[in-house]
Amino acid sequence: MEQNAAIYQDLERILVTKEEIATKVKELGKRITDDYSGKEPVLVCILKGAALFFSDLIREIDLPLTTDFMAISSYGSATKTSGVVRVLKDLDRDILGKDVIIVEDIVDTGVTLNYLRSMLVHRGAASIRIAALLDKTARRIVPDLQVDYVCFDIPDAFVVGYGLDYDQKYRNLPDIGVLSPKIYGE
Ligand code: IMP
Repeated sequence: MEQNAAIYQDLERILVTKEEIATKVKELGKRITDDYSGKEPVLVCILKGAALFFSDLIREIDLPLTTDFMAISSYGSATKTSGVVRVLKDLDRDILGKDVIIVEDIVDTGVTLNYLRSMLVHRGAASIRIAALLDKTARRIVPDLQVDYVCFDIPDAFVVGYGLDYDQKYRNLPDIGVLSPKIYGE
C-alpha cells in the first residue's frame, strides 16, 4: 500500500483486497478449466480495463487456450455509460466455430456486453460466455444479459484499481476501491 499511498488517498474505501482477488481468480480459472475440458476456448480480453484480470485468469486455466484482444469505447462521461459502443480495435482472428469467453472488467448497465455478445454471435462463434471480474447488478438496464462467470457482486459505486480506471488513472492499484466522489466532482 505504501508505494501507492498518494493514490489511495483518492479512495473512499477499499472494496476488494488483492488477496481476495487472487483467491477468486484462481477459483474461476479452475471452473473454466473444468467447464471447457477437451475444448480450446478463445479468451477475449476487453481492453483496457480487463487487462490485469485477463493476465491473471489465463494463467489459472489449464487448457490449450488462445487469446485475442478487443478495445471498445462507450460514448458518455467518464463515470456514466451512454449506450453507444464503438470498436476501437477489433479481434485479430476469425472466431467462426470457436468457443469464445469474453473477459470484461465490470458489468454495469450491461449495454457494452450486450452489444459485444450480439456482435460475436453474428460472426458465428460456436458458443459465447462472459466472465466478469465485477458485477453491479443494481444498475443493469439489459435484464436478460447472461453473465456466466462473476468474481464479485458489488454495490452501485464507482470503483477503480486492478485495471479499472478513472480518466486513465488508478489502474495500477493492486486492490479495488471506491473512488471518492470529490475526485469526479459529484
Ligand atoms: P456498461 O456498458 O454500463 O455495462 O459499462 C461497462 C463499462 O463501463 C466497463 O467496461 C467499464 O469500462 C465502465 N465502468 C462501469 N462502471 C465502472 C466503474 O465503477 N469503474 C470503472 N469503470 C466502470
